[in-house]
Amino acid sequence: MIITITPNPCVDKTIFIDTLLPGDKIRAYRCSCIAGGKGCNVSRAINAMGGETIAVPFVGGHTGKHVVEMLETMDRLQCSPVEITEMTRTITTVLEESRHRQTALFEPGPSISQKECRKALKLIEQLLPEATLIIMSGSAPDPNLDNFYRDVVQMSHEANLNSIVDAYGTIFEQALSAIPYMIKPNIEEAEKITKSPITTRAEQWGTVDRFRKQGIPLVVLSLGAEGALLSFKDTQFHVEPPPINTVNPVGSGDALVAGFALGITQKMDIESMARLGIAMGTANAMSWDIGAFRKKEVDQLLEQVQITHR
Ligand SMILES: Nc1ncnc2c1ncn2[C@@H]1O[C@H](COP(=O)(O)OP(=O)(O)OP(=O)(O)O)[C@@H](O)[C@H]1O
Ligand SMILES: [Mg+2]
Repeated sequence: MIITITPNPCVDKTIFIDTLLPGDKIRAYRCSCIAGGKGCNVSRAINAMGGETIAVPFVGGHTGKHVVEMLETMDRLQCSPVEITEMTRTITTVLEESRHRQTALFEPGPSISQKECRKALKLIEQLLPEATLIIMSGSAPDPNLDNFYRDVVQMSHEANLNSIVDAYGTIFEQALSAIPYMIKPNIEEAEKITKSPITTRAEQWGTVDRFRKQGIPLVVLSLGAEGALLSFKDTQFHVEPPPINTVNPVGSGDALVAGFALGITQKMDIESMARLGIAMGTANAMSWDIGAFRKKEVDQLLEQVQITHR
């Protein structure tokens, strides 16, 4: 059972309109709503491939209940929520179909107390006997969580479990100090750590090397449509997807993480694991909904993924 942890999930609403005119009253002709949040996306992608997963989102208020209900009924995911006092945020995306332009409005995330943080650690501890891997995804909505991923990584070491951290900012930096098994920054997230621009391929490899030297066993630097650079043991390669018709790449990093999670738990060799991760990330970018691809689409992409050793 792969556990995904999402401290900052959301009700993810998309409003479809023709044209956005600021200050005007605009009637939508369609509206869709899903459970958002990076770990929730990872669980959805694992589920799409037939893997076993349990989502652990922090949820509060009626919007929090809605997130859990959507995960369980729409996504058919097993869910073990951490209840918090403050309300889960809603993210509203306005999609102008005439211009193919999207504008997203983010509500602030909830405050989370130290006590709620300890409650979350306890809940995760109770799930450990069933766990095969722990994934921590996304940012912290409250500085009280700055050491949360670090503590979960430490717990995973004690339980002899591998962990993946996909985040940025202080919560990510702290997590790095506990040495998770795998990290998957994109360029922007890596730049927040290196505090300098990463533009050339040499600088990208330099960043991967830096994380490896810190002791992280598996480093994947994702590059959007250009795929990813990977370093594991003494193997380093660039893994590239085929060209596709990009519809919505949001959540592709989460789908990539899901692919690696399946690879790690199924003890795949590193190249097969990378192919699966890249194919899942790419399949996600080919449709609007996040993690809504089918295994058949991923299987077709797998053969087209290219690996070039460093
Ligand atoms: N336009 C695209 N064409 C083909 N593959 C893509 C495209 N965008 C993303 N991918 C695939 O998905 C993987 C992850 O994408 P990306 O680097 O954009 O992650 P990310 O920035 O973490 O995204 P998010 O945080 O929204 O999930 C890439 O390595 C690639 O395999
Ligand atoms: Mg990402």
